[in-house]
Amino acid sequence: MLDIDKIRAEFPILKREVNGKPLVYFDNAATSQTPQIVIDAIVDYYYNYNANIHRGVHTLSQEATDKYEEARLKIQKHFNAKKSFEVIFTSGTTHSINIVATGFASLLDKGDEIIVSALEHHSNIVPWQMLCERTGAILKVIPMNEEGELVMSAYDKILSDKTKLVFVNHVSNALGTINPIEEIIRKAHNVGAAVLIDGAQACPHIKPDVQKLDADFYVASAHKIYGPTGVGILYGKEEWLNKLPPYQGGGEMIKEVTFEKTTYADLPHKFEAGTPNICGGIAFGVALDYANSIGFDEIEKREMELLNYATKKLLAIDGLKIYGTSNNKTAVISFNIDKIHPYDIGTIVDKLGVAVRTGHHCTQPIMDFYKIPGTVRASFSFYNTKEEIDVLVNTVKKAKMMLS
Ligand code: ALA
Repeated sequence: MLDIDKIRAEFPILKREVNGKPLVYFDNAATSQTPQIVIDAIVDYYYNYNANIHRGVHTLSQEATDKYEEARLKIQKHFNAKKSFEVIFTSGTTHSINIVATGFASLLDKGDEIIVSALEHHSNIVPWQMLCERTGAILKVIPMNEEGELVMSAYDKILSDKTKLVFVNHVSNALGTINPIEEIIRKAHNVGAAVLIDGAQACPHIKPDVQKLDADFYVASAHKIYGPTGVGILYGKEEWLNKLPPYQGGGEMIKEVTFEKTTYADLPHKFEAGTPNICGGIAFGVALDYANSIGFDEIEKREMELLNYATKKLLAIDGLKIYGTSNNKTAVISFNIDKIHPYDIGTIVDKLGVAVRTGHHCTQPIMDFYKIPGTVRASFSFYNTKEEIDVLVNTVKKAKMMLS
């Protein structure tokens, strides 16, 4: 059993008030909150050893380099990557996806096919459309059903020996559906295609094992996993990272530069041009330590309890419809009430201290499927409580009364 009071005390922001009411933070899928231990790591860096890495012989630079590379090892261990250099630091999931999408331009031919899913975030659609424009490759889509799940029989039909790449999120940000990525990866490999898994929404809830999954690429952002914004990772199998060209040119990513010819650095530096988010990378490692100290089994158990409680309570509100009703989902509830605009509900509940996200959640194709402009999305973390869910339910009822 988790000691929730103790855990909540570790997150300073959870003590604050919003509009004179205690904050109820249910926008964890947009960004999770940050525990004191991560905040302390950020402060410690700027107080004590702020310096550029991999460059200086001086003590501060050595200390910062050691801590940064230590963080890479923590990330390697967390995701179970075979080699530490298969972990590339990026500015976040979007950056990671763009490294792969841009790099594949040199590996695709006109008429090659790439597959995305109907449940993707715009960041896992637009870069591939841009890749298709550049290469003449064709984008195919795994459709979704009413429950917000992927139609796997349709995936079987669009997969062929023309398929070169498949891109699917592990968990849908808008609906919380956990996608059957093991099956998706296995079937893609059977036709010789590579697979990128967008793990941005899975990683706060699930500890992925990239070797067991046999994912070719797996991408994630620190700020969804109790770490800071502006840092994330691209995991790639060594063979794939070696095949892809560098994404950005600059310092750090070179072996030798002359005006005639430049040679590139080995992994991981080939993809890490410029001064990185050093402090962010170090804090990411601390955030993973923190999450592992709670334990992902405990996190999942707690969040499922909250999800089931909230689902039951919200469905008792007349006219409320939940979008994304898979039995296999994380603690995300997307809903609307009658024809009330989600933005109006979000604004009223914010006045009462409750933070939810409203809109299309960067997933317009999902909203088009349901023929709605958007939803109200409440996304829970293990540090939330049933009492907070009661507050959400009461504020939503109030909003409904005011807007009906
Ligand atoms: N992708 C983030 C979300 O779902 C921002 O809210």
